[in-house]
Amino acid sequence: MAWKNTKDLELRERAQKVIPGGMYGHQSTVLLPDGYPQFFARAEGTRLWDADGNSYIDYMCAYGPNLFGYGHAEIDDAAIAQLRRGDAMTGPSPLIVELAEAFVRMVTHADWAIFCKNGTDATTMALTIARAHTGKRKVLTATGAYHGAAPWCTPRPAGTVAEDRAHLVHFTYNDIASLEAAVKSVGEDLAAIFAAPFKHDAFQDQQLPTREYANRVREICDKTGALLVVDDVRAGLRLARDCSWSLVDVKPDLSTWGKAIANGHPISALLGSEKARAAAQAIYVTGSYWFAAAAMAAAVKTLEFVRESDYLEHTETMGRRLREGLQQQAAAHGFTLRQTGPAQMPQILFDDDPDFRKGFAWTQAALKRGVYLHPWHNMFICAALTEGHVSETLAATDAAFETVKKRLPTLKPHPVVAQLFSGH
Ligand SMILES: Cc1ncc(COP(=O)(O)O)c(C=O)c1O
Repeated sequence: MAWKNTKDLELRERAQKVIPGGMYGHQSTVLLPDGYPQFFARAEGTRLWDADGNSYIDYMCAYGPNLFGYGHAEIDDAAIAQLRRGDAMTGPSPLIVELAEAFVRMVTHADWAIFCKNGTDATTMALTIARAHTGKRKVLTATGAYHGAAPWCTPRPAGTVAEDRAHLVHFTYNDIASLEAAVKSVGEDLAAIFAAPFKHDAFQDQQLPTREYANRVREICDKTGALLVVDDVRAGLRLARDCSWSLVDVKPDLSTWGKAIANGHPISALLGSEKARAAAQAIYVTGSYWFAAAAMAAAVKTLEFVRESDYLEHTETMGRRLREGLQQQAAAHGFTLRQTGPAQMPQILFDDDPDFRKGFAWTQAALKRGVYLHPWHNMFICAALTEGHVSETLAATDAAFETVKKRLPTLKPHPVVAQLFSGH
């Protein structure tokens, strides 16, 4: 079937009238190559179908939630069975205790759990608990790190006031001198240091944390009494069957989770150590749907698969296979790719591509051949991706490299991206 986007364009036109900007947040596709679909009709395993019926091998996994494959039968059955028994009820179901116990058993630093709905709920709660625990105000985050869309952390300042971020101080990820300078600048007023498990910022190469940096963050928190928060919303369960900083042997006081923990069912979590329990108990947090039981049933099942399957090793192997294949193809076509971060959460950028025109052209050409890649955001490999899918992907990307090579002299930068990077 030839690729088409008639329905997508019709829906966009209708959306323009009834949804601000046509769509919001990261799903506003102004920053994606032309032709990227806005609307999806179906998803199964590692495949997506857009509103026009085009099918794609999907490397975005819903921006993280899809860990075991879309529509995973056993996980969805657990959620559906609970939905029929009772979902949002006057209080939580017994599953909340089972789920909290499962997390506490699995995540070394954790002694308790609070469940919520979005990653932003968890990161905002972590910030509040750190302030309640310390009685202090300042919070350190790495420049460019994403921790959600609340006024204190949204990347777009429209509608926020200076006071929302008055106590945020930034430092450079993995840079101990910059971290120490930020700590020094806040005197005795440090409440928390937020740590991304690894640097996974948009438009940039990814960076794993050095042990020295992670240890220094821990030492500073121990010395000052501030709480260390690892924001595992995006990377949680993808790097380890524990908090991601278990890989550098550093235990945070709080960790935030979301996305993959129920394989796409809506639930997030804040996990904490004994030290932070009293503060967690002191603050008032809740939400109408935070006790809903169906997503908890899905999370309990997802954690079972996390413990009992080789999904982690499999996603790493598939990620490496894709990475090696792409590296060879790029070289054969005369391009250099920068493939950074964990293989199962790949960021793929073209060298010598300051305004991303090659990346946009390449992902666009792959899309037309049935592979959904992202030109500037880290991607995700799910456990349903097989060697066959990787081969199919590589056939599409090979042709996509060829297309970029041919189009190279006439390529233009995406106007919005060009504006963003006009200072390069
Ligand atoms: C590291 C990180 N923290 C927090 C969030 C916010 O999560 P949510 O979009 O579920 O509110 C995200 C979302 O992408 C994230 O990647």
